[in-house]
Amino acid sequence: MRQRLTTTALLTLLCLAGRAGAQPPSLAEAYAGEFLVGGAIGTRQIMTDDHPALEVARRQFNTITPENLLKWSEVHPEPERYDWEAADRLVEFGEANGMFIVGHTLVWHSQTPRWVFQGDDGEPLNREQLLERMREHIHAVVGRYKGRIGGWDVVNEAVLDDGSPRETPWRRIIGEDYIEKAFQFAHEADPDAELYYNDFSMFHPGKRRAVAQLVRRLKDAGVRIDGVGVQAHWGLDFPTLEEADQTISDYAALGVNVMITELDINVLPRPDRRQDAEVGRRFERREAADPYRDGLPDEVQQRLADRYGEIFRLFRRHSDHLSRVTLWGVDDGQSWHNNWPIRGRTAHSLLFDRQYQPKPAFHSVVKAASDDE
Ligand code: G3I
Repeated sequence: MRQRLTTTALLTLLCLAGRAGAQPPSLAEAYAGEFLVGGAIGTRQIMTDDHPALEVARRQFNTITPENLLKWSEVHPEPERYDWEAADRLVEFGEANGMFIVGHTLVWHSQTPRWVFQGDDGEPLNREQLLERMREHIHAVVGRYKGRIGGWDVVNEAVLDDGSPRETPWRRIIGEDYIEKAFQFAHEADPDAELYYNDFSMFHPGKRRAVAQLVRRLKDAGVRIDGVGVQAHWGLDFPTLEEADQTISDYAALGVNVMITELDINVLPRPDRRQDAEVGRRFERREAADPYRDGLPDEVQQRLADRYGEIFRLFRRHSDHLSRVTLWGVDDGQSWHNNWPIRGRTAHSLLFDRQYQPKPAFHSVVKAASDDE
């Protein structure tokens, strides 16, 4: 009887072939005709000529997203100063490689300098003043890349898991319509760009209801919104496949595109919030919180591969309304999970390892592209 290669053996063989220098298959090619596949590009990566991550991106991705370099704090650090260098390089890189370029992100409560909400006297701005500041920023940033950046995460993370609005300076000073205004300003600046609402934990029913209401409110107001971004910072065992399936279906039912915008699978323990402060000090706690400093055990590597495989098979089942899957980074060394919620851990969340080699999870994703349904 022909011995069937076990999945592990097959994935290991594929990894060895990769290390032997054979070009790994391309994710973008594997999923061509179903959805775009891409990744977040870091500032250091794009600012380094011939960075190995860019070589991986060239071969693997047909869409890219800036991880940080187009956030307000990075691109507009002071009232009268914009820093375009990294963003210009990213857009040039995307154009040179025929990629769909995503702009991330215009209005967010994080990585937005404090001065944005204050006058020169340090006092809070009023509604009209902050709207003008928001309009000026959006017109400057979206306008600079008009016709070059294809879609924008206009507003990021405005809703809490229970569906209530996130209380941010944007909402407190302008009012609830700050969201409509942000989309309106982005559309004014580039009438052809796609416009998205982007958020995490989108599988929570309360958040799903609230985001659905938001999308309907924008559409009823005649505001352009093309898609909902499901960040998908997921784990080995959450959300369930059923929750993920229902989430994509619910957002697709709104008549907008669904995009997976920041996919990664965290294998590290999610320490109890009360422990965080102690973990750095109590070595034995650190062992528990940072178990894979010396690499991922085969058993966990296989669980990660299986999880990525089942998730991409799910995405294929939604390919008629799922337009893009973006991984939140190229390699494990880049992942934000190395520093959140505890700084200095060793994460293994992505498809390429710290030597930019494809992991078993990468081969599992490639295999999922041709699995019969
Ligand atoms: O730029 C400074 C640098 O000057 C300084 O030396 C260094 C040391 O502290 O920090 C650098 O800033 C860091 C920044 O990334 C750029 O590297 C911040 O500390 C760090 O907190 C920030 O983390 C980013 C995080 O957003 C901030 O919330 C992550 O890289 C980025 O992956 C993450 O991405 C977000 C998405 O934009 C929105 N969805 C959630 C996702 C994860 O938080």
